[in-house]
Amino acid sequence: MSNTPEKKETFFISTPIYYPSASLHIGHTYCTVAADVMARYKRQKGFDVFFLTGTDEHGQKIEDIAKKEGVAPQEFVDGVVAGVRELWELMNISYDRFIRTTDPAHILSVQRIFRAMFDNGDIYKGVYKGKYCKPCESFWTETQLVDGKCPDCGREVSDAEEEAYFFRLSKYQNLLIELYEDIPDFLEPESRKNEMLNNFLRPGLEDLCVSRTTFSWGIPVDFDEGHVVYVWVDALSNYITALGYENGTYDGFEKFWPANVHFVGKEIVRFHAIIWPAMLMSLGLPLPEKIFGHGWLVLGGAKMSKSTGNVVDPNILAEKYGVDALRYFLLRAFPFGSDGDYSEDLLVSVINSDLANKLGNLLSRTVSMTEKYFNSRLLDDFSPEPQLDEPLISACTATVREFDAAMERYDFQGALEAVVAQLSRANKYIDDTAPWILAKEPSKRPRLSSVLYNLLENLRIAAVLLTPFMPTATKEIFTQIGADSDEAQTDTVYGTLPAKAVVRRGENLFQRIQTEE
Ligand code: MSP
Repeated sequence: MSNTPEKKETFFISTPIYYPSASLHIGHTYCTVAADVMARYKRQKGFDVFFLTGTDEHGQKIEDIAKKEGVAPQEFVDGVVAGVRELWELMNISYDRFIRTTDPAHILSVQRIFRAMFDNGDIYKGVYKGKYCKPCESFWTETQLVDGKCPDCGREVSDAEEEAYFFRLSKYQNLLIELYEDIPDFLEPESRKNEMLNNFLRPGLEDLCVSRTTFSWGIPVDFDEGHVVYVWVDALSNYITALGYENGTYDGFEKFWPANVHFVGKEIVRFHAIIWPAMLMSLGLPLPEKIFGHGWLVLGGAKMSKSTGNVVDPNILAEKYGVDALRYFLLRAFPFGSDGDYSEDLLVSVINSDLANKLGNLLSRTVSMTEKYFNSRLLDDFSPEPQLDEPLISACTATVREFDAAMERYDFQGALEAVVAQLSRANKYIDDTAPWILAKEPSKRPRLSSVLYNLLENLRIAAVLLTPFMPTATKEIFTQIGADSDEAQTDTVYGTLPAKAVVRRGENLFQRIQTEE
């Protein structure tokens, strides 16, 4: 296959770790599926992949929710995490490690990380000034207030101070600007980079408050009782604690760090593209190669979120349309770097046009003709017609190249567009070659065999490319077209399917969904 490394290269990819304060919806599923597709793609290419995901479980919000529900925070997060794991299992997410920030190994590492930054002078003690709501016992920043009042209860707040630790983020301002200049693709898409430079880096960075004393559900600062580590310092560290950095429980740091890419939603780019590299610089560690800030799935123009009540449940969609179809839709319908307007109508139309009409139809027509005209096994005797066959074959080879190039750019939509275009060409090839007419003439059997071979081979290559997106459905395609060997299921070189492959007609892979119209 193209791009296959000689020796096993490593590839480390991560999703953000999910904050269990609200229910998981297809917005979270979107990023996790994207990372899974990339992990599977790289594995298919022969890379030694480490795919990390997990949960971000500390902070005042979680403490408050648990209190409201009358359970201990740990009990609350344990319950949510079980559901997260179940959803990822359902969605076929092939993560290599699931890190929880309540994991003792992570806690130990974060304490050591915090201390190391304190010891090297990047963390210092100061005073955090904010607004305090007495009845709620909550600290707020000026910007969190709603009309100058407590965002929780709406009452008056007063000026307050608390002792806190600060991270010298300001010290890293110029180094970060240099990083953006020296490595132009460190943060993608380009628009996010400009936003960071213009809104944060160039105007100047302030030191960051990295400890709290007003609540206790967090990682204790082990040299100053009463302080807990700021939740973002805790959470960002997961990318290395999960690899065993400063703990003896996990491993992989030497092998997999620095990360090849962190996938993150656009609203948390700031933490990943400013605070995280500054922390790593402070620790003297290499920086991730890339941060990719993807867009949001929006519903009627607004970001899906539990607080606005417009969430879409992936469990329901998966049940109704199938896991593979949902995975495919999420990456096919929206460009990864921009926002995408979700609707169930769009989901149905993508399934109908790509999966039922193009892929499903091509498969069922090709397999049933092979069964009907050749008793499921083609002749070994072929008769190519270059004028008709060559354009299809060379377009197929070009599709593989286009697909790979798009995947390397994290352009999932572009990659799938290339496959769909080839499926359309293959469907058109059926009309152009009219196998049902060839079948009437005994002398045309070698020609008919060639035509069907080209169709099977196009299906096989499409299925290889689609495997990371639809791991289950593509297995069924391989079974139906008789692509049984590992080679036939992974190699994108045209002509890999053995001529003597035996097809097995199966169920219609993707049913057309009836719509009102
Ligand atoms: N806990 C932090 C991440 C810490 S990483 C060190 C967090 N968690 S979250 O649960 O709130 O969000 C997880 C991811 O889901 C984020 O990348 C966020 O952008 C993404 N999404 C949440 N809603 C989304 C959409 N509607 N659309 C796409 N992704 C969105 O942030």
